[in-house]
Amino acid sequence: MEFSTHTTSTLHTLKTPALAIGVFDDSVLTDAAKALDDVTQGAIKDACKDEFTGAKGTHLVLRNLPGVSAQRVILIGLGKQDSYNAKAHAAAEQAFAGYCVKAKVTEAVSALAGAECKDSTLQQRAQALATAATQSTYHYDATLGKASKKPAPKLNHMGIWVPRADSAEAKRGLAAGQAIGNGMLLARQLGDLPGNVCTPTYLGETAKKLAKAHKTLKTDVLGQKELETLGMGSFLSVAKGSDQPPVFIVIKYTPPGTAAKGGTDKAAAEKGGKAARIKSKAPLVLVGKGITFDSGGISIKPGAGMDEMKYDMCGAASVIGTMQAVAELGLDQPVIGLVPACENLPSGRANKPGDVVTSMSGQTIEILNTDAEGRLILCDALTYAERFKPAAVVDIATLTGACVVALGHINTGLFSTDDALAAQLLAAGKQAGDTAWRMPLDDDYQEQLKSNFADMANIGGMPAGSVTAACFLSRFAKAYRWAHLDIAGTAWRSGKDKGASGRPVPLLVQFLMNQG
Ligand code: BES
Ligand code: MN
Ligand code: ZN
Repeated sequence: MEFSTHTTSTLHTLKTPALAIGVFDDSVLTDAAKALDDVTQGAIKDACKDEFTGAKGTHLVLRNLPGVSAQRVILIGLGKQDSYNAKAHAAAEQAFAGYCVKAKVTEAVSALAGAECKDSTLQQRAQALATAATQSTYHYDATLGKASKKPAPKLNHMGIWVPRADSAEAKRGLAAGQAIGNGMLLARQLGDLPGNVCTPTYLGETAKKLAKAHKTLKTDVLGQKELETLGMGSFLSVAKGSDQPPVFIVIKYTPPGTAAKGGTDKAAAEKGGKAARIKSKAPLVLVGKGITFDSGGISIKPGAGMDEMKYDMCGAASVIGTMQAVAELGLDQPVIGLVPACENLPSGRANKPGDVVTSMSGQTIEILNTDAEGRLILCDALTYAERFKPAAVVDIATLTGACVVALGHINTGLFSTDDALAAQLLAAGKQAGDTAWRMPLDDDYQEQLKSNFADMANIGGMPAGSVTAACFLSRFAKAYRWAHLDIAGTAWRSGKDKGASGRPVPLLVQFLMNQG
């Protein structure tokens, strides 16, 4: 999708198939709506009398308004003016983009970002527009037969109308929103692909393709032999129940203009140039759970709804999508994405309850439930992350059903012992409209992980299941600042509209952008 800014002072002269104008509840016109109302001798006010009053979630299409160059003007209901905020704005942009796709227009212009709201800047609103427009074109048909395939959405150009002085701000927002939107599209596609297509190997191939497309990305895919050499006994114990080979994906992003590894960076460091400063910046590391199918293993899950466990790689997908966005944006911050990927299946070689495995850290783990496999693969990735001397590590995982019970499908669960890091992630989530909620991580919960036969058990019983899962991970994340995002409730939707959400790509990209 392409984006452009329009800064004409005469909105009515803007030529486009579809122009979005905001109207607040009780027919309160935004400045853009007033401008069109003036040139049409009150046509907007007339339209806002009975059938359309600006209520949230409603819209009205006006065609061929006299003196207006846009083919259609779409009045978008913004809801009450005094409670209008970034969230309401994002919903309005989503409604407009949704309309455009349904109406099969190829291009459109939105003037919605012009309406001020108390908790966002124009740049953020432009970002929300671009994310919404990009997302509206998501189209899954990879595994549909010829008869059920539908044509892809035609919308390929979205404009934003802003006062001239603000156009640089708008452009920055559009670029960020587009990168976030594209990252979400990739994450959603990977999530929605079935387990027999999106295997660990497939995730590895996707990460390699990403590196081919971006000079700033480098991908390494480690296999069984290398993982054995590294001593990833916990990760490999999960993988051995499946015939699909495990992979460990390492995606490195180096900011543009930074000297390549082992190259001229030493000389640059002596000169004290910008490249040297960037080079010396410690990387942020993202770790994504990549269970491409979670049957539970020997502690097998019930059959109903088990298909949804193809989404157990959504943490991995969000890391891959975020790495793409980081490269598209050319951020100044080095970032490393790590993805341990395998299947969790029952077999004659699978983990059994009571088995004890040795993690890469040397700590031993008694596996009391083979369905608590996410932490078993993540712990070795967290130990691997130490070698990068990271500024911080954030892991992202569809880790526990208990997190869904606690927070539902609205907020991602955030766990961290580092208050500053937690605050940054919460703020990023709010800014990007992809919110998280902080959960406790007191040491007292660690008691629940006691084992008689190993350094720890892999489950902590019923109470506070998402907290004890985080406690387990914390034992492998002592060497750096660390946070854990449990996305079990937010990574996909169930029911009729079943599908991956692309979350928490917006939160992660925003967090990384904010480091600049
Ligand atoms: N992938 C699941 C978590 C999950 C469950 C995500 C439902 C989304 C919806 C994870 O591997 C798992 O099975 N966790 C167990 C842990 C338990 C055995 C301690 C769970 O939540 O039931
Ligand atoms: Mn499981
Ligand atoms: Zn799982």
